[in-house]
Amino acid sequence: MADSAITLLAIETSCDETGLAVLRKTGDKIEVLSQALASQVDIHALTGGVVPEVAAREHTKVFRPLLQKVLKEANVEIDAIAVTIGPGLMPALAVGTTAAQALAYAWNLPIIPIHHVEGHLYSALLPNPAFPALALIVSGGHTMLIEMKDHLQYQVLGETRDDAAGEAFDKVARLLDLPYPGGPTLSKLAESGDPKAIVFPRPMLDSGDFDFSFSGLKTAVLYALRDNPEITKADVAASFQQAVVDSLTRKTVQAYQKIQSRIVLLAGGVAANSLLRTELKTAIESRGGGLRIAPLSLCGDNAIMIGQVGLLAYEAGRTKNWREIDAKARIHIEAMSSPAHSG
Ligand code: KG4
Ligand code: ZN
Repeated sequence: MADSAITLLAIETSCDETGLAVLRKTGDKIEVLSQALASQVDIHALTGGVVPEVAAREHTKVFRPLLQKVLKEANVEIDAIAVTIGPGLMPALAVGTTAAQALAYAWNLPIIPIHHVEGHLYSALLPNPAFPALALIVSGGHTMLIEMKDHLQYQVLGETRDDAAGEAFDKVARLLDLPYPGGPTLSKLAESGDPKAIVFPRPMLDSGDFDFSFSGLKTAVLYALRDNPEITKADVAASFQQAVVDSLTRKTVQAYQKIQSRIVLLAGGVAANSLLRTELKTAIESRGGGLRIAPLSLCGDNAIMIGQVGLLAYEAGRTKNWREIDAKARIHIEAMSSPAHSG
């Protein structure tokens, strides 16, 4: 069925990774024909966080060479362009969406607008989707529990009321004088600490909903450091990480028990955290469920995840012309839900 294949160029520039990829779908099979990813982490480490205008300048700088590389390597005709339109940093998003618009205009192709979180979700859902699915999305910008009853159908069950889980890792890492991004460095330090050394709060556990809150935890870390000068950074890191992982795991289990999903998905940058991976796996599997974790290579931002959901959205008819898309710093994932397909 080679002639029914669809080929997409996928673009991701919502934060500090410039991602481009060419993917092809033939029947149910999705192949990555080429990919490129340029991380700006080293640049943002100098300022301890992402400065949006700096991120945009870096995306602009690397975009054309990366585009040339993926097109040359894939060496195929492109049928459509999938691009992250939001949420994210506006100047960064604008680089990818404007490039997608220019290419769609020049090549006379449709655009498939993608919500960044859809990308993370599909990186764990594929290659063997099953519904209903419950997804825990944890990244630097998001902490969400999402129910999917079918492809491209999203219902947000709960989300963070303040900081995202990854943001909490980054902020606490800064309190511990660890380099940006804090998640990987803090979890490394936690390996040599005692997770029971300090009992940090597990906020919202009995809130009766599926929302999270992490800003109080950050304050508790600040007080613990101030009030106990003899405490080790490794113990603080381990105890903090344990509190975040407990909160995420317990809320996910509550949601799983409520909606009786067939599978649970874990994705987003914080899904790289090994304590979270093992504790959530044990919690879901001991209750008879199955956990699907995004492959490590797709936990951070990338264009492959955008291309994967783009291929399915293309088939569902979720295409626009270049005049119809806009980058949006904030956009609700439920707004992307398309009517269920029959047949
Ligand atoms: O998905 P991502 O690359 O970008 C966003 O969409 O935000 O996630 C980045 C976040 C950062 O906050 C980073 O500190 C966190 O993921 N992160 C981790 C780990 N690796 C990355 N957090 C905890 N443990 C890790 N191993
Ligand atoms: Zn992300």
